[in-house]
Amino acid sequence: MNHPQPIVFQAAAQPETLAVVGHARPHESAALHVTGSAVYTDDMPELAGTLHAALVLAEVAHGSVRRIDVDALRAQPGVVDVMTGADVPGHNECSPVHAHDEPIFADKVQFYGQPLSAVVATSHDLARRAARRAKVEYDKQPALLSVYDALAADSHLLPTVEVARGNAQAAIAAAPHRLAGEVYLGGQEHFYLEGQVSYAVPGEGDSMHVYCSTQHPTEMQHLVADALGWQAHQVQITCRRMGGGFGGKESQSQHTACVAALLAWKTGKPVRMRLDRDDDMSITGKRHDFDIRYEVGFADDGLILGIKFELASRCGYSADLSGPVNDRAIFHCDNAYYLDAVAIRSLRMKTHTVSNTAFRGFGGPQGTFAIESVIEDIARRLGADPLAVRRRNLYGDSAGDVRTTTPYGMKVEDNVLAPLIDQLAADSDYAARRDRIAAFNAANPIVKRGISLTPVKFGISFTATLFNQAGALVHVYNDGTVLVSQGGTEMGQGLYTKVRQIVAEVFGLPFDAVRMSATDTTRVPNTSATAASSGTDLNGMAARAAALEIRERLAQFAAGLHGVDAASVTFADGRVHVAGTDQPFAALVMEAYRSRIKLWEAGFYKTPKIHYDPTTMQGRPFFYFAYGAAVSEVAIDTLTGQTRVLRVDVLHDVGRSINPALDIGQIEGGFVQGMGWLTTEELWWRDDGKLMTHAPSTYKIPAASDCPEVFNVKLFDNANIEDSIHKSKAVGEPPLMLPFSVFFAIRAAAAAAIPADAPLRLDAPATPEAILRAIAAGRGTPMEDAT
Ligand code: MTE
Ligand code: HPA
Ligand code: MOS
Repeated sequence: MNHPQPIVFQAAAQPETLAVVGHARPHESAALHVTGSAVYTDDMPELAGTLHAALVLAEVAHGSVRRIDVDALRAQPGVVDVMTGADVPGHNECSPVHAHDEPIFADKVQFYGQPLSAVVATSHDLARRAARRAKVEYDKQPALLSVYDALAADSHLLPTVEVARGNAQAAIAAAPHRLAGEVYLGGQEHFYLEGQVSYAVPGEGDSMHVYCSTQHPTEMQHLVADALGWQAHQVQITCRRMGGGFGGKESQSQHTACVAALLAWKTGKPVRMRLDRDDDMSITGKRHDFDIRYEVGFADDGLILGIKFELASRCGYSADLSGPVNDRAIFHCDNAYYLDAVAIRSLRMKTHTVSNTAFRGFGGPQGTFAIESVIEDIARRLGADPLAVRRRNLYGDSAGDVRTTTPYGMKVEDNVLAPLIDQLAADSDYAARRDRIAAFNAANPIVKRGISLTPVKFGISFTATLFNQAGALVHVYNDGTVLVSQGGTEMGQGLYTKVRQIVAEVFGLPFDAVRMSATDTTRVPNTSATAASSGTDLNGMAARAAALEIRERLAQFAAGLHGVDAASVTFADGRVHVAGTDQPFAALVMEAYRSRIKLWEAGFYKTPKIHYDPTTMQGRPFFYFAYGAAVSEVAIDTLTGQTRVLRVDVLHDVGRSINPALDIGQIEGGFVQGMGWLTTEELWWRDDGKLMTHAPSTYKIPAASDCPEVFNVKLFDNANIEDSIHKSKAVGEPPLMLPFSVFFAIRAAAAAAIPADAPLRLDAPATPEAILRAIAAGRGTPMEDAT
């Protein structure tokens, strides 16, 4: 391996105050990222004797393996060993939810691309070439590929879940207006820039160290131990950073982790396994696509009186995280709106496709899309501004308001959406622009414009209460520098930066006095995935708790020396102030060390107030809600179906920001990622189940040129009412739903191209084809469906 020489980066001198909480500062690895010296798992210097693994993948969607010609594989150039399910010493199983439905190496094939076997060779290239030449014989069976195939065959992966309040059917029947509709919402490939990768190094006395690009080191530790027939204390997992995870490495880093570890065990050599993009896209799960059906009854002003949802998702072949993903879809099909009489049915369909998994929003975006589609249909029926219908249905915002309880029984206590929407509508000149767009459309037969304002309300916490805990380990070295280990993983979102700020703030130290160690199961045990946007909420609190304990000990010590009260000792500007004197932090620390004061501490945090009963689907699954809204204006070409996003204005609630630069970055990134999902990213499977969109050539993620021409992002000034870390709010996932405004602006533009009373159905993603199809159907000249 050739390592680029680190380029010395001359950062502009930062005033010390920039170190602390609340100030914009760059990502702590920004200089390393842009100079290419940040070390990702595949950049780890290679130990002598390292081998490389590659997978043999199924080439049928459903069936059983009659025979794999292992001898022929072994005879390939460079191949050192081959492994199939029969060679696994522990369990040939890597289900993250102990469903025992995910073999590491399958003999019953459940999707095209499923790993059957692995080869290990002297180079990555030779391993791949050998794996591709594998000869496998199958007994084929018919496969269910789409959610519609599964619905038709009544193929369910998990039991149907229903949540209801009041009598939705009766409320719909009694309502002055009624509508029923259906819409399809596609899936999404994570397209993290760094693909799945693990590097397993066997240790002495039956132990294994796996460097893994994962959001969930603890899960990897357990799955690797289980595969080897070992116990947790024999396996160490390390992750310094990921080049993106987006939910795709919450559970599905297990393929590379387990296979690398198994082959390292079998050969006694370090084994590296990195999936090429095509393999990565074929083997790993995606966002769940949904078929959404609804019936709604509403009043003349658009107030929803009764609503029924049926949400059917394509889970793929195994459970993975599909249960909680679909639960979160249920929890978000109210989005910002009070639904009085409501019935939600969530169908979790089993198909012979890759196992769909966590993806930014974790089912929440799909639920949100459902209700936002209904709002749009209501507004179209009434000839009203969709924003008026949205405002009419918002949750109440005062303690006495009865319209504040969600269908799952949680009170919405701090709804800021009414003022937030008012501010955004005013700042973005929504009403006047809507009028101008109507005039533009009246004058232009080919290019049509549309504008839409959509709100977001997103619940923060893992819905499974037990995961809402975190640990940290803070070391103050006796030279006064600080090292923080914590259970969260860094995937670009800025967790390490925020935790550094939080700990620096506790000690009154400059940012650079604090360093983060790689996330490692030997430093902090029993961690939850870094997910559900709660990385900083949980781990920031745990690190702060540890740092506060050390600071208290130092304060006691300093106070003792001066005969004053510990409460009067302050830590600021890198110095400790006591009884009118002050000294450098490092000097006090050295004195404390000489006096045998403990200078390190572990911290722990668990989220208060939350409780939730999964059998009744009632309780308070979320500590709080994050809010936001966006206004988007688009132009579509009704001849080509092409879209341009002309202007976007975002107002988003991150509570009291720990780092506005990072938060705005998360909002911009989430927005563009969500926009890609809803406009250009289309997954397409061949009839035999092979994913054909398995590379950027056929799967179109947004590029720089797809970004909105005008993109204004502002933070809404709003301290968290709950006692979260520095009164901030989580920001990782909620912004992914802001670009619903882009989708519905496209829909509004398409509406301007068809008669006002024509049917309008626009499925997501709103690709040029989908837009043309919607317009053609609305004009009564339906296109032939090429798919
Ligand atoms: N931002 C970057 N740059 N890369 C990522 O992989 N993942 C998202 C979000 N933002 C992601 C990201 C997802 S799915 C989640 S759950 C959160 O970050 C996780 O990190 P946090 O809890 O620390 O916000
Ligand atoms: N969000 C994200 N990841 C998760 C969750 C959740 O609610 N539950 C389990 N994994
Ligand atoms: Mo994020 S989908 O919770 O990893």
